[in-house]
Amino acid sequence: MPGTTTPAGFLRLAEDIAREAGDMLLAKRPSMSTRSADIETKSSPTDVVTVLDRASEQLIRERILAVRPGDRILGEEEGDRPGETDVRWVVDPIDGTVNFLYGLPDWAVSIAVEVRGRVVAGVVNVAPRGEVFTAALDEGAWLGGERLRCDPAPPLGQALVATGFAYGAARRAVQAEVLTGVLPRVRDIRRGGSCAVDLCSVALGRVDAYYERGVNYWDYAAGGLVAAEAGARVGGLHGGPCGAEMALCAPPGLFEELHDLLAALDPARDS
Ligand code: IPD
Ligand code: CA
Ligand code: CA
Ligand code: CA
Repeated sequence: MPGTTTPAGFLRLAEDIAREAGDMLLAKRPSMSTRSADIETKSSPTDVVTVLDRASEQLIRERILAVRPGDRILGEEEGDRPGETDVRWVVDPIDGTVNFLYGLPDWAVSIAVEVRGRVVAGVVNVAPRGEVFTAALDEGAWLGGERLRCDPAPPLGQALVATGFAYGAARRAVQAEVLTGVLPRVRDIRRGGSCAVDLCSVALGRVDAYYERGVNYWDYAAGGLVAAEAGARVGGLHGGPCGAEMALCAPPGLFEELHDLLAALDPARDS
């Protein structure tokens, strides 16, 4: 496929696939009466997966491998597929499964493309909103045809901050504790229910910042590139990378303010 080895070429392929998966999910999404069918739980009773998470990942894998049979794929539902190229696709077939299940509009198909360990292209298809966020490394981030550039951030006290909670009661108890330290210091908190959408919301200015502990790579690989290419900082604690310990995203200035607050509140800081 011509152009597929450039970030823009990977992006075109990833976008086509994410759109097809999003259309399939919209057509087959559960109604109130079918909500309880075909659900299983994974790491905890709150960690659900539906047959459509699996169907979406299968479709995405088939489409990738039809064009690039030697690439590696990491997906939430089927894990790692080895390959012989230096390209790896990172797939969250539905980010925001609980929203998907309840008919709430913040869920997305998230696909990132890594070359030699670096994300060069990312797509977050927020299908129920008809919004497709895209980004290519060093080339920018877009919502549809519109180039995204983060607004200058307000100070922390006026910032609308999105967050999320990893599955598992023990972790959530700690996250709730941290939240009680954040809430009085910001404009307000939002819990959108999709890490990928939250990161794109920072790029768009729908929220000012986002933080979460316990995310997985497939949650933030594509959305992180969208936010970074829009001018936001994306990282972890103490100069570390965005990852399971902390995913933090905000325009410069606010990033540092929120970082310092979280670092001070983080109960794991001395462990
Ligand atoms: C979840 C969502 C949620 C976040 C969780 C993720 P899933 O992904 O991104 O917003 O708080 O940490 O696991 O399970 O819906 O793909
Ligand atoms: Ca999941
Ligand atoms: Ca996810
Ligand atoms: Ca998922």
